[in-house]
Amino acid sequence: MEEASGVRMVTGNGENSYAANSRLQEKAILETRPVLRKAIEEVYTSLSARRSTMVVADLGCSSGPNTLGFVSEVIGAVRSCTRKSEEERRAVEVQFFLNDLPGNDFNLVFRSLEQLENLGGKDTPPYYVAGLPRSYYRKLFPSRSVHFFHSSYSLMWRSKVPEELSSCTHLNEGNIYIGKTTPPMVIKLFQEQFKKDFELFLTLRFKELVSGGRMLLTFLGRKNEEMMTHGEVGTLYELVAESLLSLVLKGRVEKEKLDSFNVPYYTPSVKEVRELINKSRLFDIEHARLFESNWDPQDDSDGDVVLDYAGSGANVANCIRAVMEPLIVDHFGEDIIDDLFVVFASIVAKHLEKAKAKYPIIVLSLKKAT
Ligand SMILES: C[S@@+](CC[C@H](N)C(=O)[O-])C[C@H]1O[C@@H](n2cnc3c(N)ncnc32)[C@H](O)[C@@H]1O
Repeated sequence: MEEASGVRMVTGNGENSYAANSRLQEKAILETRPVLRKAIEEVYTSLSARRSTMVVADLGCSSGPNTLGFVSEVIGAVRSCTRKSEEERRAVEVQFFLNDLPGNDFNLVFRSLEQLENLGGKDTPPYYVAGLPRSYYRKLFPSRSVHFFHSSYSLMWRSKVPEELSSCTHLNEGNIYIGKTTPPMVIKLFQEQFKKDFELFLTLRFKELVSGGRMLLTFLGRKNEEMMTHGEVGTLYELVAESLLSLVLKGRVEKEKLDSFNVPYYTPSVKEVRELINKSRLFDIEHARLFESNWDPQDDSDGDVVLDYAGSGANVANCIRAVMEPLIVDHFGEDIIDDLFVVFASIVAKHLEKAKAKYPIIVLSLKKAT
């Protein structure tokens, strides 16, 4: 299978890097902490006395503080399990695999691992961390060898742009994802790509999990079956397309270049996801919920008021640039990138004047079916 070209976050830890601009994704990890703790507790309890190694994989780990944040969360959860089960103490060791596409900045991850040394403490389980550069739409592990899979803010990425779009058999004129003017046939192509990818992901992970193994999956979704609801990813990508179009009008980007650019992405509804999981019969859904997160990663308020449109526009632009810059540079070249995100920040600011925008995020805790 081909890998989606250009899907990698901005490397390093400089101003525009993913590591320095991943607060939005960090909030999701904090929000799902109780579900993570519960899943780890259940995995811990199911470990046989003989088998004391817990194998944990983070799929789409990227680079930056969230990668380490996840590792310390799991270690903390195992430590509290060990404390609770004082009478029949198990010497559990944890083997972590940090997975992402080969273009990920694994060096930054490896270099930052020593920060974990401070996690020490009496009940800290011995743990080992390895990198695993490969698409999670492929086999990653031997059969029945993993206890827990985690993936946060990654599964909305598709393995590729649907072929009929990348070959220009169908056009999505003026859009880069599903927008208001996207033809129904093109929407169907994005949906079919999602179904294929998600079914494959479930089948692969089912084989790799031990009996009783679990997965915690958190990804961007949709609130209902509508494709274009305010605050959802479709609206955000329309604003990126509008920014690119403004560069077409200035003669900086060719119109054909814009029309041939599509993002390998799809945000499903909870209903779509449930249907695929139930149809597969591979997993029991232990927990499924949707929560919302402000577009502006620095805005922690619950209300519907945006206090500083320009400031929020700039914050959203920094966050989206850290995720999309490599994909955009691969297709349009490097020259437009600074100007594009200046335009985008002001377009987002104007958009937020109409109403505050919040992404819907789906959280699923799944158990391997028996
Ligand atoms: C927005 S980042 C999220 C990173 C991290 N989990 C966090 O919460 O900050 C999404 C990551 O998913 C990775 N990704 C996308 N498709 C992937 C695939 N098929 N296999 C492995 N990783 C993938 C991207 O390379 C990127 O690093």
